[in-house]
Amino acid sequence: MRFSSSLVAAAGLLSTANAAIKGFNYGANFGNDQAKTVVDFEYEFNAAKNLPGTNGWTSARLYTMIQHGTTNTPIEAIQAAINTQTTLLLGMWASAGQANFDNEIAALKSAIAQYGTAFTDLVEGISVGSEDLYRITPTGIENNSGAGAQPQELINYVQQTRSTIAGTSLAGKPIGHVDTWTVYVNATNNDFISSLDFVGMDAYPYFQTTMANSVGSGSQLFFDAYHATVGAAQGKPVWVTETGWPVSGETLNQAVPSADNARIYWEDVTCQLVADNVNLYYYILQDVQYGNPVPSFGIKPGGDLQAVNPLFDLSCPASSKPQSNPTQIVGNGYTAQLSPTISTVFVFDVRPGHQGKTCNLVFFLPPAFPFPDMSPVKIRSPGGITVSRLSNSAARPDVTANDVGTSTPVGAALSMQFANQYIVGSGPCDAGQQVAYQVDSTGGLAMNFFQMISPPLGLFMIPL
Ligand SMILES: *[C@@H]1O[C@H](CO)[C@@H](O)[C@H](O)[C@H]1NC(C)=O
Ligand SMILES: *[C@@H]1O[C@H](CO)[C@@H](O)[C@H](O)[C@H]1NC(C)=O
Repeated sequence: MRFSSSLVAAAGLLSTANAAIKGFNYGANFGNDQAKTVVDFEYEFNAAKNLPGTNGWTSARLYTMIQHGTTNTPIEAIQAAINTQTTLLLGMWASAGQANFDNEIAALKSAIAQYGTAFTDLVEGISVGSEDLYRITPTGIENNSGAGAQPQELINYVQQTRSTIAGTSLAGKPIGHVDTWTVYVNATNNDFISSLDFVGMDAYPYFQTTMANSVGSGSQLFFDAYHATVGAAQGKPVWVTETGWPVSGETLNQAVPSADNARIYWEDVTCQLVADNVNLYYYILQDVQYGNPVPSFGIKPGGDLQAVNPLFDLSCPASSKPQSNPTQIVGNGYTAQLSPTISTVFVFDVRPGHQGKTCNLVFFLPPAFPFPDMSPVKIRSPGGITVSRLSNSAARPDVTANDVGTSTPVGAALSMQFANQYIVGSGPCDAGQQVAYQVDSTGGLAMNFFQMISPPLGLFMIPL
């Protein structure tokens, strides 16, 4: 018996109203090094607010307080934010030494003095640094990622920032740091984490080339990174400060850049984070203006930002489920294979909030899709499924028959037909636990599918 990738249901959904920050990252200059001015930032912030199929993308993460090309003049994004009522995650560049950090502090002070509460009321937080610790790791050095900073240096910068805002209208705003998730799980950086109010995590499954990193694994890799960061964050809130999937560029291991794949990643990761109320700054609205970045992560192509269409659909599956309540689906995943020789393991992280409820395990098959070649489900040979629960958590893409532990039969659906849903199990929700189920083919079934939630397709755990 061979196993196809395990499917990880990374996180359940909250039913509360959506209140978290949604925003994009904004550089200080265009691809040709031209500084963005107040008009440019305003144009970008308004474009973000008016993206079709979305609402509430009203926050901006900046990398520096300094207007590009000046010594320590405050960045013009601040005036644009005031004009458009865009909230801000401020950035202090921390990888160019103390003299440059003094300029960041000077620009911060000037901005407080110049704009007062019109500015400070919009501030969500202040990030001291961006990927500085990644750049000093062996991987960062190997990738020529540029100068970084040591943890002790960053601790000093955080202290300097705290004393700068003390007694000003910025006092009390959270001070954090942005770095790759790999940095936070490195215990050498624990004292630095202790000095922060929040942890900003950057994670890009596209770059995780030593792992199975097709877009279908994107959700698993991302949420593994997120959960690892939460585990290392000493109880501090974790904000997602950069993530995204490239729309063009080189294939890295199994990660293929394309607008279609960026759409899949958006649905699996962005929509999940939004539903889970996690503070999020996506990378990026547009990155090709007057430049040619490879890879490119831009949601929008080059050209007039407010006129050009996004390269992919930005809507999130919400209310269009005919048969399931999307706010109650506790898991989704990616491509699965079932045949007489291949089984698939599904892993669900069941939210603690489902304590005391009953959970149904339901297999959904939507109506047949009109274009078989493009269908997310292919039944190559008819048959059914049997489902069993695994004793070991098997939440890894490389699970084999040897390490799934013992299994207990749960239920079966002996003839898979389109436009049907099959309740294959029911019982108390394993609230707060990670649970794994193995699905086997029976009666000759050969089927591939892409687990998705709109329309629902695949195995879901649904609390009643
Ligand atoms: C762990 O963190 C320290 C300090 O930031 C860094 O010097 C070291 O390279 C990191 N180790 C790895 C394996 O990334
Ligand atoms: C950095 O280098 C590592 C090891 O060579 C590679 O796996 C990874 O994809 C690189 N990351 C980037 C951002 O280029």
